[in-house]
Amino acid sequence: MKLVFATNNNHKLKEVKEILDNQFEILSLNDINCFEEIPETQNTIAGNASEKAHFIFNKYKINCFADDTGLEIEALNGEPGVYSARYAGENCSYEDNVQKVLQKLKDQTNRNAKFRTVISLIINGKESLFEGIINGSITENKRGKDGFGYDPIFLPDGYNKTFAELPQEEKNKISHRGLATQKLINFLKTL
Ligand code: IMP
Repeated sequence: MKLVFATNNNHKLKEVKEILDNQFEILSLNDINCFEEIPETQNTIAGNASEKAHFIFNKYKINCFADDTGLEIEALNGEPGVYSARYAGENCSYEDNVQKVLQKLKDQTNRNAKFRTVISLIINGKESLFEGIINGSITENKRGKDGFGYDPIFLPDGYNKTFAELPQEEKNKISHRGLATQKLINFLKTL
């Protein structure tokens, strides 16, 4: 089955293609000649995932899915949450966001955090939502070179390596996106 993954993020595309393990033909936005900005105006992770998937389905009439992810830090009342991509401001880098989190958690003993991913899948106009959550904590300093985003400061519960230190396949097995994608696959298999 052909499915468009409504993302411009090559890291995520690579991760999801690895997780789906060639069971489905995943097309990127480039593959369908979609080069425009996808709206992301909702104030929840699920709302944004749904908005992105509906935008692509309505415009291109093709089965698709979109994901949205947020890092939710307990001591910051769930921040950066839906603002994870632009926490340190519009056009900020991953590094800017990481530094902002480390700064805000300076001297903070409660470093509990979770990543939440919601995937919205639209098949023939019908939407299904899949959620994946991984609990962990924010490290005092950056550790590791792999991954992207907040990976160097996220330590999953039960591990002594950050997401940026774990091999990609290990991260995929336990990550928010990995768990949500596994639910997506299980659902696709029932079709
Ligand atoms: P998005 O809405 O799925 O693009 O995710 C929003 C932001 O969350 C990204 O810009 C990253 O900073 C961060 N993020 C998403 N997934 C991950 C991940 O697997 N590891 C680290 N950071 C992530």
